Amino acid sequence: MNLKLFSEQDTKNLKWFWNNYMRSRMVWLIIVSILILIQGLVYQQFLVLTETGLRVIFDNGSYKDLIWICLAVFIIFSVRAVMSFLIPTISAKLTTAALFELRRDLARHVLRLPQSYFDAKSAGDLILRMVSQVQRLSAFVGQASVKALRDFATVIIVSSYLIYKNIYLFSIALVVIPLIAFLMLQVFKIVKRIQKQTEKALSAYITNIDEMKSGMRTIKMSGQEETEAHRIQSSALEIKRQTFRLMRTQAFTPPVIDLSSAFVYMLVIGGGGYMALSDKYAMDGASIITFLIGLVLIFDPARHVAQFLTQLQSSLILLESVRSIFDVAGEDLQSGKTIENTSIPFSIKFEGVSFGYKENHEILNNISLEFKAGTKNAIVGSTGSGKTTILSLIGKLYEIDEGKITLNDQDVSKLSLTSLRDQISIVSQDIVIFDQSLEDNIRYAKPEATDAEVFKAAKEAKIGGLIKEKSGAPVGPKGSQLSGGQKQRVALARTFLKPAPILLLDEATSALDSITEAGIARALMKLSKNRTSIIVAHKLDLIKDADMIFVLEDGSVVESGNHNELSKNGKYYASLLQAQQPKNK
Ligand SMILES: Nc1ncnc2c1ncn2[C@@H]1O[C@H](COP(=O)(O)OP(=O)(O)OP(=O)(O)O)[C@@H](O)[C@H]1O
Ligand SMILES: [Mg+2]
Repeated sequence: MNLKLFSEQDTKNLKWFWNNYMRSRMVWLIIVSILILIQGLVYQQFLVLTETGLRVIFDNGSYKDLIWICLAVFIIFSVRAVMSFLIPTISAKLTTAALFELRRDLARHVLRLPQSYFDAKSAGDLILRMVSQVQRLSAFVGQASVKALRDFATVIIVSSYLIYKNIYLFSIALVVIPLIAFLMLQVFKIVKRIQKQTEKALSAYITNIDEMKSGMRTIKMSGQEETEAHRIQSSALEIKRQTFRLMRTQAFTPPVIDLSSAFVYMLVIGGGGYMALSDKYAMDGASIITFLIGLVLIFDPARHVAQFLTQLQSSLILLESVRSIFDVAGEDLQSGKTIENTSIPFSIKFEGVSFGYKENHEILNNISLEFKAGTKNAIVGSTGSGKTTILSLIGKLYEIDEGKITLNDQDVSKLSLTSLRDQISIVSQDIVIFDQSLEDNIRYAKPEATDAEVFKAAKEAKIGGLIKEKSGAPVGPKGSQLSGGQKQRVALARTFLKPAPILLLDEATSALDSITEAGIARALMKLSKNRTSIIVAHKLDLIKDADMIFVLEDGSVVESGNHNELSKNGKYYASLLQAQQPKNK
């Protein structure tokens, strides 16, 4: 049987929390502990005064003595009242600051996690850890642990006094301890197991809600409300089941303590009564009553400490879940070489590059190609052939398995990420729009840009008119109040605002009407002078004038050349051209 309160991992996690977020606040922690001790001493003093008071009454003392005792009782409880204000206030200050730091560190770390982490994790998992689990941890650290410390101090101080008063009677009270310990440890184990499952259910629930929100248009248009309701209901049902199991298990602790206390009272009244009746022990009624009051004073705090220890098991699961995010190594943005000479255009070379998102599942097979410096390049190929993957690898979103990618003959894997990504402007297939004004959304690419610069970029991306129309109104969460083409134009405007030496356009104009597209294509043409651009497009109109077109099939380059060369050789490109002919007429 494992009788340990903390597993090895728990101890590590607690140490980590202590070292990173608590140790620097040692002085305040000591102050709070002292205040808590004072609070505990109040109960002990209360017992002393009670016993004295009872003696005054039983032994016919003076009224004056009685008044003094009453006054003293009032004063010591006033001290407790002051402590009751100071302790939570100071501890709230400590924990809110510590948890702020944890949130800040989490956000910084999560922002540096590799793309593969986000490919695998659900939104629910991340939100659960960064929002809900941190919040629950802070409630636990801030309130529960301070109260538990206060109660623990009360138990220790009052017990010590009771031992001092009558060690025999106190020993009787101890018989229940092994039983309590055994039952509690069983409860702890079960609580931990269920808490893990509860967190899983919560994560699934949040993910479902996230998916519902982002898929709302489709849900409505295809009348899938019932299906969605069922999906969410089934994850809510799982939360209900697990939470109930958790609460039921946690509810085992107070009765254990209550039954034990009944047992102890019984023994103490019997034993104490016997001691008072017998001549062998110097015990009077007042000391027996005081002893019993002392036990009453202990049992409530003891009950709280037991409940705290049960909740602690749940919190240890939360702590492990939050801390384990730091186990995944973040990208080191700064380390590595800085790119030399960024003023000349870049040539980008793939030499025998193989890559797969998952082990043993290659997406790119031994690819070798060169995007020459200052040229306009295009990648075409059927859906899923690996076009976006190639662009991602240029920005080192993933580590390649074999081969080498170079930028002006400098190995990309040795370059610092910041230096590398500073050279890239990308309009990707999934555009990020924030719930801010169009201007602010465009300015995202270059926060220091002036209004005039932003407006010029917007005009080039053919979105100047819309800016005037919206006059600074936010565009809805994730740009929900914009059309698909408008979102693309915001992304293009960002590129116009801050064009980097390497332009990557992944279906950047796919949602635009032909006239707007042609206009933007002209602007892009101008922009791509002296830059190396790579355009991924299904519409061949856009790439006809490219210096080099690569045709990708199943992760291999099957054709390359310019439009004229490729249209004559009668392979994939030619058939693509053929398929698009009627549209072009
Ligand atoms: N994050 C990922 N994890 C695992 N597999 C992925 C991931 N992203 C893409 N894939 C797979 O890799 C292959 C290439 O995907 P990629 O996005 O590069 O295709 P694409 O040529 O850009 O297609 P499309 O024209 O549809 O945009 C696909 O089979 C896809 O299923
Ligand atoms: Mg793609």
